[in-house]
Amino acid sequence: MTKVKVLFVCLGNICRSPLAEALFKHKVESKGLHMHIEADSCGTSDYHIGQEPDDRTMINALKNGISISHRGRQLTTHDLEHFDFILAMDRSNYQNILRLPNAARHEHKIALMRMYDPQRTHDDVPDPYYGGERGFQEVFEILNRSTESLLVHLEKNHF
Ligand code: 4NP
Repeated sequence: MTKVKVLFVCLGNICRSPLAEALFKHKVESKGLHMHIEADSCGTSDYHIGQEPDDRTMINALKNGISISHRGRQLTTHDLEHFDFILAMDRSNYQNILRLPNAARHEHKIALMRMYDPQRTHDDVPDPYYGGERGFQEVFEILNRSTESLLVHLEKNHF
């Protein structure tokens, strides 16, 4: 069976998307599905290439029992070919993804992360970068719910 490949995309790839990746992988491992699902994250900007996630994201995740191991990288056209599900953290990054050459061909794979949030009140996962600790916890809760429901969706429809 070929693997389902999932890519989480934000702006800097140091706050939201590496957390989404870590949460999703944690759930995939817990369900013993790691042979069937691959996940990664990246940013649409080149601001933090090679960097570890933001300290505030790492500390908040650890407080919630999740450790993150990732280095920032920028989205490429190859990613659009390789991945089956490309999940943008907000509408601005959704538009950034569509600006890549040939993106229109892959539009069916691109969606907003919060479309999977069962408690969606807004289209965007808010950018916590310029905010305080509460913002990081809010992002954690949104991504915890959204990655859980994404995985349930994949289990129902792709295996
Ligand atoms: P992220 O958050 O897109 O969730 O990784 C941000 C990180 C860095 C910046 C903006 C958002 N920045 O402007 O450097």
